[in-house]
Amino acid sequence: MPAAVGCVTRKYGSLMISKAGLAFKAKGKLPFGIMPGRVLLTGCFLLFNNILSCSFSAAGVLLRVKMNVRRHLREKNTIPKIFAETVHRHGDKTALIFEGTGERWTFHQLDEYSNRVANMLLERGFKDGDVVALFMENRSQYVGLWLGMAKIGVEAALINFNLRLEALVHCVTISNAKAVMFGSELNDAVSEVHSLMGKEVQMFCSGDWDPKRVPRGTESLEPLLDAAPSHLPSRPQRYRLFYIYTSGTTGMPKAAIVVHSRYYRMAALVYYGFRMTSDDVLYDCLPLYHSAGNIVGVGQCIIHGMTVVIRKKFSASRFWDDCAKYNCTIVQYIGEICRYLLNQPVRDMEKQHRVRMAMGNGLRQSIWEEFMKRFNIPQIAEFYGATECNCSLGNFDNKIGACGFNSRILPFIYPIRLVRVDEETMELMRGPDGVCIPCKPGEPGQLVGRIIQNDPLRRFDGYVNQSATSKKIAHSVFKKGDTAYLSGDVLIMDECGHMFFKDRTGDTFRWKGENVSTTEVEGTLSRLLDMKDVVVYGVEVPGAEGKAGMAAIADPSHSTDLEKLVKDMEKALPPYARPVFLRFLLEVNKTGTFKFQKTDLRRDSFNPSAVSDRLYFMDSRRGCYVQLDEDLYRSILSGKHKL
Ligand SMILES: *[C@@H]1O[C@H](CO)[C@@H](O)[C@H](O)[C@H]1NC(C)=O
Ligand SMILES: *[C@@H]1O[C@H](CO)[C@@H](O)[C@H](O)[C@H]1NC(C)=O
Ligand SMILES: *[C@@H]1O[C@H](CO)[C@@H](O)[C@H](O)[C@H]1NC(C)=O
Ligand SMILES: *[C@@H]1O[C@H](CO)[C@@H](O)[C@H](O)[C@H]1NC(C)=O
Ligand SMILES: *[C@@H]1O[C@H](CO)[C@@H](O)[C@H](O)[C@H]1NC(C)=O
Ligand SMILES: *[C@@H]1O[C@H](CO)[C@@H](O)[C@H](O)[C@H]1NC(C)=O
Repeated sequence: MPAAVGCVTRKYGSLMISKAGLAFKAKGKLPFGIMPGRVLLTGCFLLFNNILSCSFSAAGVLLRVKMNVRRHLREKNTIPKIFAETVHRHGDKTALIFEGTGERWTFHQLDEYSNRVANMLLERGFKDGDVVALFMENRSQYVGLWLGMAKIGVEAALINFNLRLEALVHCVTISNAKAVMFGSELNDAVSEVHSLMGKEVQMFCSGDWDPKRVPRGTESLEPLLDAAPSHLPSRPQRYRLFYIYTSGTTGMPKAAIVVHSRYYRMAALVYYGFRMTSDDVLYDCLPLYHSAGNIVGVGQCIIHGMTVVIRKKFSASRFWDDCAKYNCTIVQYIGEICRYLLNQPVRDMEKQHRVRMAMGNGLRQSIWEEFMKRFNIPQIAEFYGATECNCSLGNFDNKIGACGFNSRILPFIYPIRLVRVDEETMELMRGPDGVCIPCKPGEPGQLVGRIIQNDPLRRFDGYVNQSATSKKIAHSVFKKGDTAYLSGDVLIMDECGHMFFKDRTGDTFRWKGENVSTTEVEGTLSRLLDMKDVVVYGVEVPGAEGKAGMAAIADPSHSTDLEKLVKDMEKALPPYARPVFLRFLLEVNKTGTFKFQKTDLRRDSFNPSAVSDRLYFMDSRRGCYVQLDEDLYRSILSGKHKL
């Protein structure tokens, strides 16, 4: 099958590589008055040139970040030390703006506040290596609190403020926190579980103080901080900075360790890779308990002296107004945020801003270009990389749809690769020598990163839970006996080395002998359904091979036209990818980071007695969706009604 190569193509034509050889289809005039007979060679040259330039610019970014990380390690620099340099350079410039209260903190103020936090904790006997859980929705002080802890080597456990009951207790407990600092807006959530936490856990409440609504023994934080000295504490700093929890789309959240060098590296990689400057203003409306908001976003303030606007909660209707108000030049997105923005009615403000770049993770290929065009955003800075993973990638050259680039001609610069995997079971496929099989361009595979523990850029700090750590590591991946980190995601690489996200491993399912990528089907259906929330997953049907596709659609207003949907799907999706079952509900559950939660939906499956929502079944004989009732359900289960 011919694979179109995207590097040269947009400008000059298209280069096709097939078994028959190379062919270059010119689009209009070629540059430099090249004669037709030379076209083929030029094509090769341009392609090679482009791969080279992509490779060297990506390599340049990596080398620069690597050198800086090495320097910081050599100088034993920690995030608080790097922040001290930032304060020195930028002092009275605005560091943080809190949209909502409109409060602004300069670098000096942020520094002083965090010193008070550190001194207060020192006075109370906290010492390096202790853990304090941070559970807060209102965020004015959030950054100052973890930074203050870091100044004396106390590690913050950043807890998702949406958690309640068992999940909340679980996160606090596995971190071994000696204290919990919580916002008064979460008084009730904390009171509910206080009795389940260890008695010796100290409680501090920030915000509106109401002694009747907090657990016994809780202290009000602000008076303590006001009384604490504001000078820089001199205390040892630790290797670990804080803990961030995985979103827990499957099972309980896991605590991932963030060390100082990882914080630096994640923030620096996007800063250099996407050519940001300290004069940029970054709009960060992502949760601060997560690496995107707190490292990739806030890190630009701490490390590079950028002004960062933080907002308590993402608001689709306020998004562009905020950007205009604060002269933001970079916005951050995650998960489904871009789709929610596209879902808003068109307004003038959405183009009247100075945003030059949207940076984030998870922009669907199906809406990529529409997003750029409608909101007038020249560059999409999509990157890939989990908190705990060392295989970060970035789309540094604004390539439509790509989440990263890895040089195919300089592979030794960055030891990551796609390897063949059973997309359904996540099992790695191995060759006769027991080593994983690298994917060819165009072939989907799991992204893996080689682990070299003594290289700060290549190490993996793992989770607090050792057995969870070992699950993410595989052996003999690049060569016999080595170890590598498993990303759990399936990507595809093109001829140049651009990487495209395909699906999460284990989400892809097989139907009628074909692999169905849930991410792709979700993107297409959502587009056909006016950007509604759509979650796609496979469900087992007794007697049928593979899994049948099911789509859960958020449709509170009952506005879906099923006949139209069927017609549209016939054009947009191959038969095996069209969902067999539909479930219409008011709302689909999302994580705090705007990702869909599929576990419950998968478990509910298509059983009408277990699900009170409207269910539909694709009656293939009649070519339309019919309501799924008990009778039909039984005849599907018994195999009487063919799928
Ligand atoms: C936190 O947010 C809640 C709800 O938005 C608000 O009622 C409360 O006053 C805020 N607290 C502080 C300390 O800002
Ligand atoms: C945004 O830029 C304009 C023009 O340069 C300036 O007048 C305004 O004060 C700026 N706004 C903020 C919030 O910095
Ligand atoms: C589906 O994926 C598996 C690997 O997970 C692969 O072996 C198989 O060839 C794929 N099937 C199709 C039709 O692409
Ligand atoms: C991923 O982490 C492992 C574990 O430390 C490390 O050895 C490996 O080099 C890292 N890979 C990359 C690409 O950073
Ligand atoms: C650690 O991880 C393993 C496997 O993921 C899990 O079974 C176990 O319950 C976890 N332990 C804790 C304390 O979370
Ligand atoms: C959404 O989450 C709530 C709370 O965890 C749960 O009770 C409900 O069943 C979930 N809804 C669906 C459709 O999974």
